[in-house]
Amino acid sequence: MGRPKITVVGAGNVGGTTAQRLAEKDTYDVVLVDIVEGIPQGKALDMTQAGPVCGYSTRVVGTNGYDETAGSSIAVITSGIPRKPGMSRDELLATNAKIVKSVVSELVSRSPDIILILVTNPLDAMVHVARRVSGLPKSRIIGMGGILDSARMRSFIAAELNVPGPDVQAMVLGGHGDTMVPLPRHTTVKGRPVSELMTQDKLEEIVQRTRDGGAEIVGHLKTGSAFYAPSASAVDMVQAIYHDEKRVLPCAVLCEGEYGLKDVIVGVPVKIGRNGAEQVVEYELERGEQSALEASANAVRELCAKVDRLME
Ligand code: NAI
Ligand code: 2OP
Repeated sequence: MGRPKITVVGAGNVGGTTAQRLAEKDTYDVVLVDIVEGIPQGKALDMTQAGPVCGYSTRVVGTNGYDETAGSSIAVITSGIPRKPGMSRDELLATNAKIVKSVVSELVSRSPDIILILVTNPLDAMVHVARRVSGLPKSRIIGMGGILDSARMRSFIAAELNVPGPDVQAMVLGGHGDTMVPLPRHTTVKGRPVSELMTQDKLEEIVQRTRDGGAEIVGHLKTGSAFYAPSASAVDMVQAIYHDEKRVLPCAVLCEGEYGLKDVIVGVPVKIGRNGAEQVVEYELERGEQSALEASANAVRELCAKVDRLME
């Protein structure tokens, strides 16, 4: 049996590093798609040539079309534009919605059993667009945001306590944006509640730094946004699906009553396995946490209503 095919759309910072990380797993065939001629072809060839050195024999194909994507098991969608000076959020929303709409149609028409992992921002609204366009069941349309936000929180805590990052477990729910909901009560270090290990003030500082985590990187890079941790997070989802891991990861999916949220896409803990988003796992939330999640869901709702109007 051949290897499963994973398509990565967008060969920029996030897409390029996602394809590289996937190639290094030596498990998949990888197809890299971009509209810019030469970029996906050149990057794919370069990644293939790294194989003999790194010890993998992954086939990486770069293309400007979609025929090569036929039969993909999973696609990671990173295509889109970042916000530029003078550009409104609405313009970004409209442009990326158009891009995601056409990319999803192209993918689904050639791979009807595909699972879509959305990365393009604004994330939760792009998951909404993919749902509108694809006709796929909700379990097969998943947004990557919470794993990244949680990874940031985990790494800040690890640095503060001088412990290994993987020993820290954290959960950040809500929309991937200013209204995200870090949950310190569900954050542990080797099983110990983080609140026992640092002061409340320090914890609050870390929560705020997590909320500002994307902007902090943009502040350093100036011309782009984060891509190492985002690509690692997207690949974590691919691996969880392919290996049927049933791990509970914070991902953006359609809620239909879970957490009291109806018909809204928002980051919640999701059991990820072979069938995609297999189950929303309901943590017990305190009143403040629940109202923060509802406020975040309302912010996503507003953005989705805006994208609906833009797409009419
Ligand atoms: P980038 O600008 O480096 O790459 C985007 C790529 O998409 C470019 O190569 C561009 O040519 C390509 N593209 C544009 N239109 C396309 C189309 N119609 N078909 C195929 N390819 C197309 O941007 P970067 O840094 O890779 O970020 C990509 C997106 O991911 C952005 O929207 C960014 O905001 C988002 N993002 C989301 C994160 C999350 O946690 N959900 C984390 C990091 C980035
Ligand atoms: C981030 O959080 C840009 O959404 C991206 O870094």
